[in-house]
Order: sequence, then C-alpha cells, then structure tokens
Amino acid sequence: MNTADLIWLNGEFVAWEDAKVHVLTHAMHYGTGVFEGIRAYETERGTAIFRHQDHLNRLEASAKLYYMDLPFSKEQLREVTHELIVRNGFKSCYIRPLVWRGYGPMGLNPLENPVEAMIAVWEWAPYLGEEGKRNGVRARVSSYRRISSDSLIPHSKASGQYLNSVLAKIESIKAGYQEAILLDDKGHVCEGSGENVFVIKDGVVYTPPQTAGILDGINRKSCIQIARDLGYELVERDLARAELALADEVFLTGTAAELTPLCEIDDIAIGEGVPGPVTRAVQELFDDALHGRAAQYSEWLDLVPVPSQT
Ligand SMILES: Cc1ncc(COP(=O)(O)O)c(C=O)c1O
Repeated sequence: MNTADLIWLNGEFVAWEDAKVHVLTHAMHYGTGVFEGIRAYETERGTAIFRHQDHLNRLEASAKLYYMDLPFSKEQLREVTHELIVRNGFKSCYIRPLVWRGYGPMGLNPLENPVEAMIAVWEWAPYLGEEGKRNGVRARVSSYRRISSDSLIPHSKASGQYLNSVLAKIESIKAGYQEAILLDDKGHVCEGSGENVFVIKDGVVYTPPQTAGILDGINRKSCIQIARDLGYELVERDLARAELALADEVFLTGTAAELTPLCEIDDIAIGEGVPGPVTRAVQELFDDALHGRAAQYSEWLDLVPVPSQT
C-alpha cells in the first residue's frame, strides 16, 4: 500500500512505522473498535474533505452504540486531520480514523479498557478500480447474509462487524467476481461488502431503506439528493434479489469505491451490460460534487486550511 510520513496516534504525530499498539489491545481480540472511511480531494479552492462533519458524527454515533465516548472532541479530530494532511503533503487522500478499546483487562467486558484514537491518511485509488468506475464491475450475491440488528448493529461502523464483509468479499473474489452483494436477514437486497446499492428500473431510482440493515452511507445520502436534484424519482424500499438482475441499471456508492456501476450480477448482464444513462448522470454530478466543481454542493466540502508561511 501507499504509505505516508506521519500517523496521528492518541494526540501525537508519530512516524508511520512507529504507530504501534500492544498485542493485548482489546480491539485486536474482540473487534471493539469503530472507524470511518473519508476522502479528501483536490479542488480549485484547495484540498477539501468530503462531508467531514457527517463522517465525524457517524464515528461518534458508532462509538456511542458500543458504549464508548470519543477520547477527543470532534473539532479536535477535525483539526488534527487537517494538520495530518498538510504535514504529509497530500493534495488528495483517503482518511481512516479509528477509535478502539485499548490495552487493559482481558475478557469480554471492555468498560475498564482505555478508549484510544488514531487517524491515518494515504493515497488510495478508487476501491473497485478506475476501470470499474468507467465500465462497471461484476458481482455475485453472497451466500453470507448481512449482519442483522438481532445480533449486531448495522448502523455502527464497528471493526468486528466487518468479518461479515470480509467473508463475503473473499467468497466473491475466489469465485472470480469483483464484489459481493449481501441480502439482509429477510432475503431482501441490502448492500455491497463496503458500499450501498441503487437499482434503476423504468427511470425510477430505488435503494434499500434504513430498516434493511444497511450502513447509513454518507455517499448514499449524497446520491439520493443528487438523483432527486436531477429530477429522478427516488424511492427507498425493500428490493427482491431478482430485481437486481432485471434492473435497467445498478450502481454502488461508498467512500472507497465512490460511484461504481455494476455490469453483471450472478453472471447475468444488467440492462445492456454497460453503465446506463441514469448511472452516468448521477455519477457525473457526484464526481463534480466530490471535486468541488458543483457550487450547489459546496457546503459538503471541508476545506483544509493552508498554513501561513510566516
Ligand atoms: C458495509 C458498508 N456499507 C456502506 C458503505 C458506504 O458508506 P459511505 O458512503 O459512508 O462510505 C460502507 C463504507 O463505508 C460500508 O463499509
């Protein structure tokens, strides 16, 4: 992977290779961490972090659901992220904050373990590839169901919960696909291993609702708004598995993957097997929003202040 000079760890900027924790860190054994995936883009007004406040709010919400208080305020985390990007000399990058239960008593009760925090940044190409963004990727429906709120917390972006996505991803890669689509516990379409899903049929855009066990994606929210602003009808409702294969178009959204179309599901071409017009229209305006070219969405950008030279 691409590395950077510095990582921010519990209040200090440390060299990338020195950002270490004890092997008895609680989160390493039991998955008791919460994290975010955020991106900063180069824009005409300088480097800008996309929907930074929304990501920090979700980090706080994820932590709260696992009985953790953030050990630093959201404003502190925001400011150190700015400083980290500047000190690493990046114009655009991926940003990974993680808050976790640290080294302390072993055992399942984490409440006496310290809550620690780190932020790392690095340069990272779109997760499903530039080629995938252009021409679409092939996915299969996973044999693993998305975690349900019967046993975990789909709304929390918690480390341990990602074993579910990891299994689905490995299964799809080993079978020769690029991505997995997980159904929820009731058999409805839920989401990708790290992306939300949108289905287009007869000009209407559909996406599974909050109650389908999805992660409440920040790019999902943005693309819902963009689709509506473009004049498309957007409906949040449960989707049957067959609606994926019978759709005119399907696309995925997520911070890592940005907006990536699906061209095939379970070896069946979606529509013409190439990204369709609605996908293209939403993708183009979404890309403009990410890169600061869409004035109507400028409030989504958190500009990284450039330090004065004096
Ligand atoms: C399981 C899962 N669903 C959906 C998403 C999309 O969320 P966002 O758009 O906030 O990146 C992600 C990525 O964070 C994810 O990991």
